[in-house]
Amino acid sequence: MSIRLRLLLSYTAMLLVTVLLFVAAVFLIAVAVTGDVQHVRDLFTSRYAVMPLTEPEETVSVETKFLGKDSPEKLLDPRLLQELEQRLEPVNAGLLVRRGGEIYYASPVLRVPGMDQVLPGYEFGNIHVRDILETDGRYFAYVKFDFTYSDKTAGGVYVMKEVSPYAELARSLLPVLILFLLLMLALMNGLLNLHVSRSIVRPLNKLKTAAERIRDGELDFHVDSTRRDEIGQLSQTFEDMRKKLKESVELQLQYEENRKELISNISHDLKTPITSILGYVEGIRDGVADTPEKLDKYLDTIARKAKGMDRLIDELFLYSKLDLGKLPFTFERIDIERFLDDYLTELQFDLEERHVALRWEKQGLASAAGQKAGPGQEKAVVLADREKLRRVLANIVDNSLKYMDKAEGQLRFDLRIGADEVVIEVADNGPGIAPQDIPHIFERFYRGEKSRNADSGGSGLGLAIARQIVHEHRGFIAAKAVPGKGTTIIITLPREKGAER
Ligand SMILES: Nc1ncnc2c1ncn2[C@@H]1O[C@H](COP(=O)(O)OP(=O)(O)O)[C@@H](O)[C@H]1O
Ligand SMILES: [Mg+2]
Repeated sequence: MSIRLRLLLSYTAMLLVTVLLFVAAVFLIAVAVTGDVQHVRDLFTSRYAVMPLTEPEETVSVETKFLGKDSPEKLLDPRLLQELEQRLEPVNAGLLVRRGGEIYYASPVLRVPGMDQVLPGYEFGNIHVRDILETDGRYFAYVKFDFTYSDKTAGGVYVMKEVSPYAELARSLLPVLILFLLLMLALMNGLLNLHVSRSIVRPLNKLKTAAERIRDGELDFHVDSTRRDEIGQLSQTFEDMRKKLKESVELQLQYEENRKELISNISHDLKTPITSILGYVEGIRDGVADTPEKLDKYLDTIARKAKGMDRLIDELFLYSKLDLGKLPFTFERIDIERFLDDYLTELQFDLEERHVALRWEKQGLASAAGQKAGPGQEKAVVLADREKLRRVLANIVDNSLKYMDKAEGQLRFDLRIGADEVVIEVADNGPGIAPQDIPHIFERFYRGEKSRNADSGGSGLGLAIARQIVHEHRGFIAAKAVPGKGTTIIITLPREKGAER
């Protein structure tokens, strides 16, 4: 059963119960007031509203009825009439005697203009003996008895009392009022039903549409939840769910994209050297390399390409291990200054061979000022994996040497010690990374356009690996460059408190 129908049914049930209770209440009240079930029916079926007679009215009307029947002439006796009238006075009722077409006698309370016009016609069967009549804007309830005088003129005797016009009005309008009340109830029912179903069913339908859109994979919309009720909360939850779903779908797509790109890069980077190796082998086989020098050259190239591939595969392997978090790190507390000292001493030979000058600058360090580190001067300790950190530096230096375009190459190492971190800068005076490349050089497989064309070898993984390792050390790596003047790579590592072990 739909909520709409359910609401409708429950409201209708409520309405019915209300009406039944209302009817029961009216019935009970009417019975209590009139003391008679018959009168209750009268109350609803006609405007012969019957009010209970007071005792004097009752007795006087019975007495006059007998008089009218047995000795109607007595009803023409003013003394008797006055005596009866006196008995009616305490209840504000009066007596009226009719003879032929005119009023023979009327108590002072009943002397109202037009009374003779509104009296009902004679009816000797005396069936409709009680009613209400209206004259001059006033209402009178009566009990009457019609008879004939001995001279055969028609006569009637009335016990009459003025009643409130409102009571009469209400009584005459009672059926209309009840109908109106019922209509009001029905209208209220309809309105309530409309309102509630609007405030529940409509937002639910909206949510349903939203859920369907989500099911169909549409996530770029907003489930609005301006309401503060349960449905508002439900909408908010829907909205949160949509956002989460969207995020995860986007992440999934990103992964997928990355995977595709990775595969295409790997295939490309492996395919290129293999194609040229095959080309050279083919050349040798076909006898193109017909002199020993040429053969030597061919074999050299083949060996170089194979080594390049070997290195590429190594790097790929390293990178994917890092990416998967499968490469174990053995962190130890190392004195970064001594670590760099050692590394640069080794590097020195290499650089000399390649005619690149090395400068090693330490700032804020005891040893820089020519002193031995005293007890108050702590060494700069970082938590690092020696071998991996070497790898980072090697990849950076490798680039500096590989892309060096000056005859007098220079390489400068800088170490700055801060309160919470140490900063290592490696600067060269090479071509400088193009500004548009800087945001991408730490991405895997990214190679500057120039380096790609220059065929200087390289996978585009060197700096990506460096970044992975530095991140694993909870550090940052960044680059800045001046085109034509040189590149600087900056590594920031968190500094450990206390001395090295
Ligand atoms: N010292 C440098 N001087 C000039 N360009 C550099 C330097 N270091 C890096 N680059 C640029 O950044 C790119 C990414 O470097 P890297 O990740 O090591 O890849 P690869 O060296 O294999 O090309 C290089 O292709 C090059 O364009
Ligand atoms: Mg490199």
